[in-house]
Amino acid sequence: MAGNRTFTMIKPDAFGAGNSGAILKMIEEAGFKIVALKATQLSAELAGKFYAVHKERPFYADLCKYMSSGPIIAAVLEKDNAVEDFRTLIGATNPANAAEGTIRKLFATSIEANAVHGSDSDENAEIEGNFYFSQFERVI
Ligand code: PPS
Repeated sequence: MAGNRTFTMIKPDAFGAGNSGAILKMIEEAGFKIVALKATQLSAELAGKFYAVHKERPFYADLCKYMSSGPIIAAVLEKDNAVEDFRTLIGATNPANAAEGTIRKLFATSIEANAVHGSDSDENAEIEGNFYFSQFERVI
């Protein structure tokens, strides 16, 4: 059975452009409940840990540099079928390929500065949520 939580980050481009509120509004209007939320900034080292699964990929160093370049918002979201439904809401990784009305189509500017992250599996949603939030920082 699909899990009911996913994890997201509003990335430095969208945060810096002042789009966090509009993105959170879209997320809530799509039926997701925010069960944990914080504004923070990753160090390069922590970005490297978060994205370690991609360390062999050619863009890994750029991705870590970019994700530690400014503030972000991290959040855990709750909804039936959360992982899949959230990835539909955000659209394709490359905004050039993202469907109309998706968050990345509306707010992303490049494949790197693509506005939001969404977990790709229930297992990673839990790992990623635990990376940012203690048990006291989320709705049980
Ligand atoms: S996905 O969403 O995980 O299926 O996409 P994937 O292609 O595997 O990309 C994994 C993360 O790397 C980011 N990415 C890039 N960053 C910089 N430059 C390039 N060329 C690039 N290609 C992919 C992509 O946005 C994914 O980040 P997250 O935070 O997981 O969305």
